[in-house]
Amino acid sequence: MSMVGYEKHGSVAVLTVDNPPVNAMSPGVPKGICEGVARANAEDDVNAIVLIGAGRGFIAGADIRYFSLPWPDGEEKFADIIAAFEASPKPVVAAIHGHALGGGLETAMACHYRVIVPSARVGQPEVNLGFPPGAGGTQRLPRLAGVKVALDMIVSGRPLKAPKAAEAGIVDKVIEGDLLEGAVAFAAEKGTQDGPHQRARDIEIKLEDRSVFDAMRENIKRKARGMRAPYACIECVEAAVDLPFDEGVAREREIFEVCVASDESRAMRHVFFAERAARKIPGIGKDVKPRTIAKAGVLGAGTMGGGIAMNFANAGIPVTLVEQSQENLDRGMGVIERNYANTLAKGRLSQDAMDACMARITPTVSMEDLGDADIIIEAVFELMAVKKEVFAKLDAVAKPDAILTSNTSYLDVNEIADSIPGRAGNVLGTHFFSPANVMRLLEVVRTDNVSDENLVTTMAIGQAMRKLPIVTGVCHGFIGNRMLEGYFGEASIMIEEGARPLHIDTVMYEYGMAMGPLAVMDLAGLDIGWSKRKDAGGGVATEGRGAFVSNRLCEMGRFGQKTRRGFYVYEEGSRRPVPDPEVDQLTLDAAAHYGLEHREFNDQEILERCLYPLINIGADILHEGHALRASDIDLVYINGYGFPTWRGGPMHWAGTVGLNAVYEKVCAYHETLGFDHWKPSPLLKKLAEEGKTFEDYDKEQ
Ligand code: CAA
Ligand code: NAI
Repeated sequence: MSMVGYEKHGSVAVLTVDNPPVNAMSPGVPKGICEGVARANAEDDVNAIVLIGAGRGFIAGADIRYFSLPWPDGEEKFADIIAAFEASPKPVVAAIHGHALGGGLETAMACHYRVIVPSARVGQPEVNLGFPPGAGGTQRLPRLAGVKVALDMIVSGRPLKAPKAAEAGIVDKVIEGDLLEGAVAFAAEKGTQDGPHQRARDIEIKLEDRSVFDAMRENIKRKARGMRAPYACIECVEAAVDLPFDEGVAREREIFEVCVASDESRAMRHVFFAERAARKIPGIGKDVKPRTIAKAGVLGAGTMGGGIAMNFANAGIPVTLVEQSQENLDRGMGVIERNYANTLAKGRLSQDAMDACMARITPTVSMEDLGDADIIIEAVFELMAVKKEVFAKLDAVAKPDAILTSNTSYLDVNEIADSIPGRAGNVLGTHFFSPANVMRLLEVVRTDNVSDENLVTTMAIGQAMRKLPIVTGVCHGFIGNRMLEGYFGEASIMIEEGARPLHIDTVMYEYGMAMGPLAVMDLAGLDIGWSKRKDAGGGVATEGRGAFVSNRLCEMGRFGQKTRRGFYVYEEGSRRPVPDPEVDQLTLDAAAHYGLEHREFNDQEILERCLYPLINIGADILHEGHALRASDIDLVYINGYGFPTWRGGPMHWAGTVGLNAVYEKVCAYHETLGFDHWKPSPLLKKLAEEGKTFEDYDKEQ
């Protein structure tokens, strides 16, 4: 059956693209469109053509799967559609609802006219897949919308809503009523007018000030660090200004093809599909629906609880915030108010929206007030005894079917669930990341007995909060923090062997991490680990490898950025880490303490020793079933730990290095260093021996 319907509405031929779910340009779609255009031009009683999408949108662009698959031989392509439109003597009108993205917008821009419903969006999001638009988008959009608007859209990947698209000149008319009816009327009228009809390619580009290109390069410097695609987008738009249309299109294509074949694009396509896969939980079908959450509760208005309460309020869900004292409650509410006020000051929130959010948060010191909450998230101190006490109280006050979750970072959520056995099916973990109102990652910790419905509801709540919920099993530190121990651990161990903190951080920053590991530890606070080591040592901090320098720093009151001294020193009001000879001396003391000799480190060793433990531990987590798929682990690292998206996450990146090469190095480091995080994972070994990647593993599950 054709993927493009053909119907006549009076004098107008309507071509309907019908390729669920999003009308991507899969094989068959270009063919159907080309055939429809040819037929309409051959039929004497047709004077115009409308192209429209069935279902939820116009066209979502190229079928992204085909960037990694061969396009069928002889099958029509994008270029054929565009050629057919531009050669059509009868006007072609794109009728847009839902979305016209990427190749979808390029198709629309190759039509003579475009009409749109007010709720639709148009955009060129290709940069998020690691390449610039490749079907003339960078040449037609600047002609229609002007260079500045086009450059912003193409480099940011952000779509425009219909009214803005109309204002910019990308579309010709906003249709308020029925789209098909409006589009047919518009096309019929254009069909009565003499040709030739307008073509975007014929519009002359006007640009008075070429500095927009360099300004954009400067503007994206930080965000696009290490990436090629955003710069490729700028080059393509520059070509639109500098070259005649056809040469500009050829230049765009050349740049596009190089980018599509790059590791960067492969990584970003991996992330696109990873995000969609993460919503699926094997064994739980679409028949399991999330429950309605009308009211929420949060326990603890500290660093995390306040941000979590804001997430509920932002999602439109009234939330009761409980503290143990009025003083702490007032402090917590003060922080929330300041956070909203900052967003307001930046112009990203209106006063009305802020007031509405604040009104959704009800502060209280009485746990009884949680009696009507459908979900309650606990964010009190990280101590099992305190958590159990709180859950026992919740058992007494919460609705019988309320979902009860813990925001614990490391504790055994099964043990918490088992402490109130009558409700074990309703207890699970929700591990938010700090700042909880900002960070996108949410680890949803699946306990042994949680019901499918409660798990699905918690995932849905995460999505309603605009988070990226990732299912993880119950293990120490879940996915992210468990892996982090290897990463931080190895960085701390290397400084004892002579690697300088700034060298380690620079290597990791240049790799693409948002910050190096030692700078992150300074930011998070060295006292957290110190206090854990003191707990483990019965009051005296344990001092295994990697702890020496950190213990001494804490004894000196150097807790990191908050005391302006940690692994680095920080000048008043500055976050810039400055190396400190006192720390260098501590690393020498550590070497003497452990009987080591300081030596020179090269970049490659630093890189391997930071990243390979992540991969090795990640493989264990996968092997044990504590992650549903390797791509979930990638998403955790990208969204929670500043791992560069364009590297695709640690597990994807391991595939670009080659699992065999990674495995050999893991074995070698295990041999020489011996730490637990180097103990070769059986899954890593298996995949390396089979010549596979973690993506192969995911596909086989
Ligand atoms: N190709 C292939 N599959 C796609 C797709 C595409 N362009 N867009 C979406 N899908 C798939 C998703 O993988 C998902 O599949 P599963 O249900 O199997 O997981 C399904 O369609 C639904 O997608 P979403 O869950 O994302 O649906 P949504 O309603 O939340 O969002 C959307 C819809 C806004 C269109 C969103 O899917 C989206 O942004 N898609 C990508 C758009 C894009 O990047 N287009 C540019 C493509 S590249 C291009 O066009 C190059 C060129 O110039 C030639
Ligand atoms: P915090 O110390 O800032 O806040 C905890 C709050 O809980 C305090 O205000 C305290 O008064 C309150 N509280 C304690 N017992 C209470 C009770 N019985 N009833 C009501 N309130 C009570 O701690 P933070 O950092 O917010 O951590 C909370 C939880 O979140 C911990 O389990 C922690 O491990 C976890 N977490 C922390 C992250 C962080 O970066 N701070 C990140 C992710 C998780």
